[in-house]
Amino acid sequence: MGKNNLIVSLDVGTTKTRAIACDPAPDGFPNIVGLGIASTHGLTRGSIIDMEATTASIRACFEDLKQSLGHMPLATHLSVNGCNISSQIVRVETVVKQAKGAITHADIDHVLEMAHRASLPEDRQILMAFPVGFILDGTEGIRDPAGMYGNVLGAEVHMITGSVGPIRNLTSCVNAAELAVDGEITAQALAAAEAVLSEQEKQLGVVLVDIGGGTTDLALYTDGVPWHTASIPLGGLNITKDISYGLKLPQDVAEELKLQYATVSDGALDDETEIDAPGFYPGSWTMLRQRDLAMIVVARMEEILELIKDEIRRTGYFDVLPAGVVFTGGGSELHGFEELASAVLGLPVRQGVVPVMRGMNEYLCRAEFATSIGLTMYAARLQRARVRRPMSAALGSVAERLGSLMRPFIPMS
Ligand SMILES: Nc1ncnc2c1ncn2[C@@H]1O[C@H](COP(=O)(O)OP(=O)(O)OP(=O)(O)O)[C@@H](O)[C@H]1O
Ligand SMILES: [Mg+2]
Repeated sequence: MGKNNLIVSLDVGTTKTRAIACDPAPDGFPNIVGLGIASTHGLTRGSIIDMEATTASIRACFEDLKQSLGHMPLATHLSVNGCNISSQIVRVETVVKQAKGAITHADIDHVLEMAHRASLPEDRQILMAFPVGFILDGTEGIRDPAGMYGNVLGAEVHMITGSVGPIRNLTSCVNAAELAVDGEITAQALAAAEAVLSEQEKQLGVVLVDIGGGTTDLALYTDGVPWHTASIPLGGLNITKDISYGLKLPQDVAEELKLQYATVSDGALDDETEIDAPGFYPGSWTMLRQRDLAMIVVARMEEILELIKDEIRRTGYFDVLPAGVVFTGGGSELHGFEELASAVLGLPVRQGVVPVMRGMNEYLCRAEFATSIGLTMYAARLQRARVRRPMSAALGSVAERLGSLMRPFIPMS
């Protein structure tokens, strides 16, 4: 495997830090060659509150990755959370200098750069940019104006931006762990969407919801691009804490009980099932019924789902989402989750299925890896597009400067 071509993605979640390394392989399709996982310390609800602890988590994760990879990578792509994502359409226009000749890649480069400059308040950083279409002498919706004739070239670019502060904080932690942030920085929900949403779903209208440990992140897609993103500061950790407080149990015991016995499916509840759980003090035991556990879990999960529903309603798209809601993140792995989600949301729901990549084992197909796998796929796709389409070098370089998904110009596989 070529060390230089290695694509490494890092997802620093509230509960776990995960790194995946993949080799693009001679045919350009990624092949997973290493995995690193460590518990995260230093984040609350997706935001860094302790830089040293976060750096230590990243280090531990990369030490783990080194075990399977055989060497320590130097750089990584990054997904960020808690950075107050917003999206906007930027429209720019310029008079093309050689009006008598055809539009060149340099002209396109120039107009996209204008969009880039026009849209950047000081405290915002571009995470992704999608040219929605070009406008030539007032004709809208042109996908690729190269080779066409006209005087005034315009571009509509959909910009996804994040607050500079949280992105810099995470980048500093990665650098402090002796790694460079190389290439793509993207938002968690958008990375997960890369892994589990089909192009058809994105065109029709769909919401990706990632229920993590500390946050629940949403990205609403329609016409192929994310039009709205939001973050709700609740996740699986809140359920664990509720169990701990409600049943007076240590948090690690509460987590274990949740993973082993919790269900939000009425049909799966057995009134007779009693569980013995170790209490706070050595030798102390608490006897509880599965139904007591379920009541606590259902109450919190219903609250999270109601907040998701409110957020989707606020966008005004609730009634035009034929593809419904697709879930990722560890929190959505709760037993009976789809049944409850469908009842509360009143929309079609499905669990996101992480596509199988070469070198991937069953463990990596879990919903909690959607962000890491999506980020890896996205970086690999950009790399593949650059290799396959040298003629669009101008677009590629703009893509890099923009920060930078130029989806309409990138082949989908
Ligand atoms: N089978 C399961 N049943 C219920 N909950 C689960 C299951 N598996 C994982 N979880 C929960 O999922 C949560 C972690 O999800 P995930 O790994 O996606 O979060 P994260 O990326 O670390 O955090 P965030 O994305 O919020 O920053 C934990 O609260 C964990 O208890
Ligand atoms: Mg996460």
